[in-house]
Amino acid sequence: MLDHEQVAIHAGRRSRLPVIVAVHSTALGPAAGGLRLWHYPDWRDGLTDALRLSAAMTSKFAVAGLPIGGGKAVVALPEGMELDADRRRDVLRDVADVIASLSGVYATGPDVGTSPADMAVIGETTPHVFCKPTDLGGSGDSSPHTAQGALAALRAVSRRLHGTSSLGGRSLAVIGLGRVGVGLARLLAAEGAVLTVTDIDLDKQKISDELGAVWRSPDEILAADVDIVVPAALGSVLTSRTAADLRCRAVVGPANNQLATPDVADLLYQRDIIWVPDYVASAGGVINAISAELHRVSADEARARVRAIEDTVDDLLDTAQRCGQTPAQAASELARRRLSATSPAKHRFTWPDASLLARTGGRQRVRATRRSTP
Ligand SMILES: NC(=O)c1ccc[n+]([C@@H]2O[C@H](COP(=O)([O-])OP(=O)(O)OC[C@H]3O[C@@H](n4cnc5c(N)ncnc54)[C@H](O)[C@@H]3O)[C@@H](O)[C@H]2O)c1
Repeated sequence: MLDHEQVAIHAGRRSRLPVIVAVHSTALGPAAGGLRLWHYPDWRDGLTDALRLSAAMTSKFAVAGLPIGGGKAVVALPEGMELDADRRRDVLRDVADVIASLSGVYATGPDVGTSPADMAVIGETTPHVFCKPTDLGGSGDSSPHTAQGALAALRAVSRRLHGTSSLGGRSLAVIGLGRVGVGLARLLAAEGAVLTVTDIDLDKQKISDELGAVWRSPDEILAADVDIVVPAALGSVLTSRTAADLRCRAVVGPANNQLATPDVADLLYQRDIIWVPDYVASAGGVINAISAELHRVSADEARARVRAIEDTVDDLLDTAQRCGQTPAQAASELARRRLSATSPAKHRFTWPDASLLARTGGRQRVRATRRSTP
């Protein structure tokens, strides 16, 4: 059964590549979620990714307490295809056409394989886009905020493990030194954490040296003898096999899709390893973008909302302990409760008209409107 409100699949007019936009739910508000431009063995694998990721966005916004629904866009590149600048622009304009055709039900943002500069290209066609560069009126790169949000989740877990939210002197293994991972590793190092790090890109060893971290290979790091493992790369890093190898007391990080299968959360629970659902720990970027661009709160208020992930994780861990549940069950029940408390409505992002958009260079106020369904 299709669990989604709508799924648009188009062959791009210019690129002929499959452009997929999955809108999982607009029960809480119009749907948002990033654009993934990634290689897949078959475009249908991209569809599977879009369906899964958009459902996770619904949970991400619900648990974060934001009135936004879950969506995701995927362009499925054939294996080995590289895009030159012109072809990339064609792809982005194709994506923009599909988003524009949805009339505000869905707005996109950056994700794996896309950046604020790509959002600027999409913004030439449709206003339904977050995280354009700041000089074009967007909130820019979300990764520093995602790193701050992951740090907030780590503080809540540290309090549970050690009685204090300080990460000074704690040992952490960070997997992946990309945009989010390196920012998070720097924040942790600045606080005096003892770091072990890895990346498949061996050039990142320079960053490891700079941080005074111990470098391990990606194969070894999961079994590192540390307090907390921090997934900040790609892929389903937690399988039944890797869960059995872990020697840490918790796994908390910003990477999406950490579990190969949902039952791995139960295996971790049985081993007394705290796992904070990835969609909770990785919410800092979207919380900041929605707060800054949609709600137009001050930068301080947006930062406070990101830091509130610490309270969210505290509450989830309390609930899980009280009810004898995994944190994953506690989070999914919270999301379900918030979703079922809404009345049926159609939500859309509304933005000023295109001429105002051009005059203000995109510095316009975004609103989410709600119309009751008959
Ligand atoms: N950027 C954001 O704001 C944001 C928001 C929410 C979630 N996330 C998630 O956080 C994760 C990292 O995002 P990012 O923006 O930093 O991506 P990125 O592409 O900048 O970085 C990913 C890093 O992981 C490394 N890597 C890939 N596979 C690896 C492996 N098997 N072992 C070790 N390292 C590996 C890559 O070489 C790269 O350095 C992703 O799962 C992403 O979906 C990011």
